Amino acid sequence: MNTNAELIKQINDLKQRKNAVILAHCYQNVEIDEVADFVGDSLYLSRQAANTNADIIVFAGVYFMAETAKILSPDKKVLLPRKESGCLMANMINLQQIREFKAQNPGIPVVCYVNSTAEVKSECDICCTSANAVDVVRSLNSKKVLFVPDTHLGEYVGSKLPDIEVITYPGYCPTHVRILPEDVLEQKKLHPEAKVLCHPECSKEVVELADVVGSTTAIMKYARESRDKDFIIVTEIGVVDRLKRDFPDKNFIHVSFKAVCPNMKWNHLEDIYNVLLNENNEVDVKPEYAKKSLEMIERMLAVKV
Ligand code: 13P
Ligand code: SF4
Repeated sequence: MNTNAELIKQINDLKQRKNAVILAHCYQNVEIDEVADFVGDSLYLSRQAANTNADIIVFAGVYFMAETAKILSPDKKVLLPRKESGCLMANMINLQQIREFKAQNPGIPVVCYVNSTAEVKSECDICCTSANAVDVVRSLNSKKVLFVPDTHLGEYVGSKLPDIEVITYPGYCPTHVRILPEDVLEQKKLHPEAKVLCHPECSKEVVELADVVGSTTAIMKYARESRDKDFIIVTEIGVVDRLKRDFPDKNFIHVSFKAVCPNMKWNHLEDIYNVLLNENNEVDVKPEYAKKSLEMIERMLAVKV
């Protein structure tokens, strides 16, 4: 049985030999950071995938993230350590459903949260992540916007842009909607001095209880820069693990044990090692979806945040 230290060395050797990079989302098991070249949220990792010179990208995340990396770097080999790591929200809308949604709301531009499949992206006008959703919707200069698939992020964007009608598709993140207002209230009661930092994939009732609403990076940035010492973190537990590790002099309270994304937790160091060694689980995107999706993602990356 390999110890972590041996595995880390073997992974680093393989990375060097094969000219590979490892991108890891902040919801991954925290041990993955030991071998990752870049750790961050969806927007940050998309930018890294677009710029890397590596021959192989190992994406420690869920399927749509690896697919996005492949769309941005079609000549590179993109590997997903575990095939079963899909995003439950992304799977809530397919090609037929996006077409029906557009047909019910004709002539309105469609913003697609990056947590979606390439085929769904290919039917839209621009992508966004939770870090830039408000700026992306504003950039369209349209009185009405369709937003897929996350109804909660769409609603949050609408609340920030009252002059724009944001019509949302009824998808959601099962991990974030498991967090209830009473979970936040309970922690606020126990820690009345703590600031509440919340991801906009949570329901409106939860978002309304927050002091700060933002993407993974925005939450981490606020915690880093704030003079406050105590924070209730209303998002996936991986963010809390990293905050505790990086800022040991501050106090981070996870809002609820329910806020864990099971599909983000499949990967362990052994999986990273195996996928790099065997170069299996390669992610590919059908050419008919890749070209249009690339335009959507590039349009998003061009929006100033
Ligand atoms: P961000 O990385 O954009 O914060 O998104 C959170 C998420 O749910 C990723 O799947
Ligand atoms: Fe998808 Fe939610 Fe998991 Fe993110 S946390 S990967 S949106 S299911």
